[in-house]
Amino acid sequence: MVDTGTQYRKIKTEIDAAVIAVMESSQFIGGKVVNEFATNLAAYHGSKHVIPCANGTDALQIAMMALGLQPGDEVITPSFTYIATVEVAALLGIKPVFVEVDKQHFCIDPVAIEKAITPKTKAIVPVHLYGHAADMEAIMAIADKHKLFVIEDNAQGIGNDFTFSNGSKKKTGSIGHIGCTSFYPSKNLGAFGDGGAIFTDDDALADKLRMIASHGQSKRYYHDVVGCNSRLDAMQAAILNIKLKHLDAYIDARRKAADYYDKAFAGNPKIETPFRASNNRHVFHQYTLILHDTDRDALSQFLADQQIPSMIYYPVPAHRQKMFDAFGGSNYQLPITDWLTERVISLPIHTELDTEQQDLVISKVLEFVNR
Ligand SMILES: Cc1ncc(COP(=O)(O)O)c(C=O)c1O
Repeated sequence: MVDTGTQYRKIKTEIDAAVIAVMESSQFIGGKVVNEFATNLAAYHGSKHVIPCANGTDALQIAMMALGLQPGDEVITPSFTYIATVEVAALLGIKPVFVEVDKQHFCIDPVAIEKAITPKTKAIVPVHLYGHAADMEAIMAIADKHKLFVIEDNAQGIGNDFTFSNGSKKKTGSIGHIGCTSFYPSKNLGAFGDGGAIFTDDDALADKLRMIASHGQSKRYYHDVVGCNSRLDAMQAAILNIKLKHLDAYIDARRKAADYYDKAFAGNPKIETPFRASNNRHVFHQYTLILHDTDRDALSQFLADQQIPSMIYYPVPAHRQKMFDAFGGSNYQLPITDWLTERVISLPIHTELDTEQQDLVISKVLEFVNR
């Protein structure tokens, strides 16, 4: 699904030198390189503060802690997402309230959000799934109206530009009160290990986020609040600093590959290619089709038999995971989420994909669906 090896070899000289420099410096945790990366990422993102942390899951947990969410509070999230989004809420005793997603772009449906608000609701957690932006304009309007926090899960959306109806633009992850991202190696901005970051424009919130990510310390060995240990190490920061310079080119390569697939599948009644709302720049973390009148799992097996990878993101929605039985997961009626879960399939998409590889994937997909 990804080819991080070829991507690395193209920037090997720069990466190797940066990693060696960290080893020479002996400053492995925190310090200059991590600060430099945070500054560069803040500038790219248009966010006032970037708080690097250990992974995207921690970023979400720290965000919920910093906003003071308490056991019994509710957060509204999509069920059609990676489990981390909702798991961290459950871990803190917060109730994830699952709502529907938009059938076209897979992100949380603002109408469904408003219907799910109760006096216990404290936050909305939209996920920019597969790299397409949730409707942040509508979501922020709902949040303002009901005085709710918005934590954007931007693990899959880094680099997406969201355009508001007045023409202004912001990066996804910098629109809500807090944005969270992951640098998992296969992400659009991927480290060579785990990593994550938290974004905010709010000075007081930034201090709190920083404190919580560092054992609740206000200064060394003075622990004001209960926190956790979540650090991005200098080696990852050095690598990410270099890859950040290439992020827009990486996104362009993914978008080009998506265009190529789109063209090849256009007009096929069994294949619905990814929708792109005009208010955002889809960054194609995944290229995900909806299949009609096709045995999706049989297609996946057929591709695997020809050594062509494909993935189902995600085969079981969060509300149907055993983990959420205790939260009444099975009581939810989310027909769109269930419908999508049974029909989506993601094809290989990455920065190194060439048209020859894509032609093979395309021909095998078409061979199967046109049988
Ligand atoms: C939507 C979403 N949220 C959260 C995460 C968690 O990130 P991490 O794996 O870095 O903890 C991921 C990444 O896997 C993700 O795709």
